[in-house]
Amino acid sequence: MGLPDEIRQQALALRTALERHNERYYVLDAPLVPDAEYDRLMRALQDLERRYPLLATPDSPTQRVGAAPLAAFPRVTHGMPMLSLGNAFDTGEVEAFDRRVRQALGVESVAYAVEPKFDGLAVSLRYEGGVLVAGATRGDGYVGEDVTPNLRTLRAIPLRLQAADGIPIPALLEVRGEVLMLRDDFDRLNREQREKGGKVFINPRNAAAGALRQLDSGVTATRRLAFFAYGVGASEGPGMPCDRHSSILDRLASLRFPVVQERRVVTGAAALLAYHRNMEEMRAILPYDMDGTVYKVDDLAQQAALGYVSRAPRFALAHKFPAQEAATRVLGIDVQVGRTGALTPVARLEPVFVGGVTVTNATLHNEDEIRRKDLMIGDSVIVRRAGDVIPEVMAVQREQRPADARPFAMPDHCPVCGARALRLPGEAVTRCSGGLYCPAQRKQALLHYASRRAMDIDGLGERLVEQLVDQAIVRTPADLYRLGVAALAALERMAEKSADNLVAAIGNSRRTTLARFVYALGIRNVGEATAKALARHFGSLDRLAAAGRQALQQVPDVGPVVAESIAGFFAEPHNVEVIEQLRAAGVTWDEHPGAIPADGPGGLGGRNFVLTGTLPTLVREEARERIEAAGGRVVGSVSKKTDYLVAGADPGGKYDRAIELEIPILDEAGLLQLLARGCDSPDDPLHS
Ligand code: IVH
Repeated sequence: MGLPDEIRQQALALRTALERHNERYYVLDAPLVPDAEYDRLMRALQDLERRYPLLATPDSPTQRVGAAPLAAFPRVTHGMPMLSLGNAFDTGEVEAFDRRVRQALGVESVAYAVEPKFDGLAVSLRYEGGVLVAGATRGDGYVGEDVTPNLRTLRAIPLRLQAADGIPIPALLEVRGEVLMLRDDFDRLNREQREKGGKVFINPRNAAAGALRQLDSGVTATRRLAFFAYGVGASEGPGMPCDRHSSILDRLASLRFPVVQERRVVTGAAALLAYHRNMEEMRAILPYDMDGTVYKVDDLAQQAALGYVSRAPRFALAHKFPAQEAATRVLGIDVQVGRTGALTPVARLEPVFVGGVTVTNATLHNEDEIRRKDLMIGDSVIVRRAGDVIPEVMAVQREQRPADARPFAMPDHCPVCGARALRLPGEAVTRCSGGLYCPAQRKQALLHYASRRAMDIDGLGERLVEQLVDQAIVRTPADLYRLGVAALAALERMAEKSADNLVAAIGNSRRTTLARFVYALGIRNVGEATAKALARHFGSLDRLAAAGRQALQQVPDVGPVVAESIAGFFAEPHNVEVIEQLRAAGVTWDEHPGAIPADGPGGLGGRNFVLTGTLPTLVREEARERIEAAGGRVVGSVSKKTDYLVAGADPGGKYDRAIELEIPILDEAGLLQLLARGCDSPDDPLHS
């Protein structure tokens, strides 16, 4: 009709190629060409259709890019209702189902077609004369929403049915199945949404629903939605098998509908349960989400004989997995201290049954994660527990936030030992700086202290350290040197002989090298090589302890991060105390007095100070004199040039101004330390 033959041929070739690539990609999961080649073919066909609009029929692959936005979805009545399924949650209910079926049919055993229960959205696709004419959501089962333009964009859905094996195409066919988003596509979508500050979806099902129920099908086209066919509704004319459900699925597969691989035909209740268990194990590795398995009597005549109860067939059953998500409330947020000192916020939950167990805690990972989720104490949340994975808070139900909800603040001190908790720039994790002193880190620290390349205490293994710490016999490495044979021999699995040996090994460790000792302290980011370099450079522990961040960075291989760890470690009084105890216990090491000296005290190097509020012991004049004596300057008001604000009780507006300008604020103790050690000392906040 007015179309040159050559153009018609060209369009047909492009259509065929595009449909073949769609099938390879979406149905067979084995693409033949890269995405760019697919896009090139699509653009060529679009160009052709722009020039010859008669080519742009509803079954053209170009229709998959989306149509003009709708104001609302039209309603459609399904040719045959889309029913629901009865549910079973345990073995007994499955056995009862099989018993009922056998009794009603008066047979010994029944063959069932078994399939995954997809966790997506049910849709019905209407094909007239082999062409997709309408697609609808399930709605109330009788009337659904017409989402045809959206469904056309799904490349897994054939726009035109191709006769295969000489079998005719039914004049009318309603194909039923599930639209879902594969987990990989879901992760990618959420990553993209996060990057552009868009809506982040809780799970693939919600993401699929959001994409399918778009009034603008152009948006649907940009989201990769998958489709699996699991049955037929109305069907007229020859071309559909009428013996078994499993034959219908095979026929749908030959018509190039995606039909899940993990489908079987099994006989008897025991086989149903075995299939269910197997699918539950496969759950984590399959690319799609499912919430259970579906059992359908395979023989269609038996199906008809069994019929329906209210809105569900008597011949089918959904056997659900335990729900992996549940709603509950966050009662509080605790902070746990891990073995490396990492502070992890953990939500304390109102107990909730999810993923097959009662869950009372869920990890919140870190401070940023809490902020990103906008979680407050008292919030209603969705918790997810998938398999053996640690339960997680998936989403916050903001609209249910109670008036007394409280925000969470990461403590600035370790909840276990009270040492300062530090979060280094660029790191997501806050860590306890208590090191050797923190009980939560103590076991690890003791094992490290005793390890071969550190103090080399033979015989102090994991089991022993557990007992020593749990029974509060040993708190710090210094306590090791007080251990007697009698105390050790009283422990589990400790004979007197091994107790003797251990006491001797501990005694022998007293004499060591500075490098080993520094390594044994377990300072974060200080491995054996760094410890050696530090020992060589500073020559004495006191000089190392007094060195500021800049001085530390003079050491080969010590950058700002390592310098920060070292300075932070020695700024923690508990660590200094443990070192003193070790010295008192007789631990000694070689020192090299000739090594490069660290910065001496007293240099405030022209730094500008502002004083505000009442200091606990120093009067204003005294503070000024001491700062000036150390080379600093005291000025009247806070500006960008101010280096420190020294604040006492009832500070004035200077305090707010300093916060605004992010100027370090010292209390009196901080000032005195600075005066004692000078700038560039570990506790100088300007050297972070
Ligand atoms: S058959 C008459 N098979 O489950 C039975 N449904 O409660 C018609 N579903 O919303 C449904 N996977 O979307 C069937 N393999 C499967 C299914 C499945 C998921 C959903 C379906 C419907 C619900 C039925």
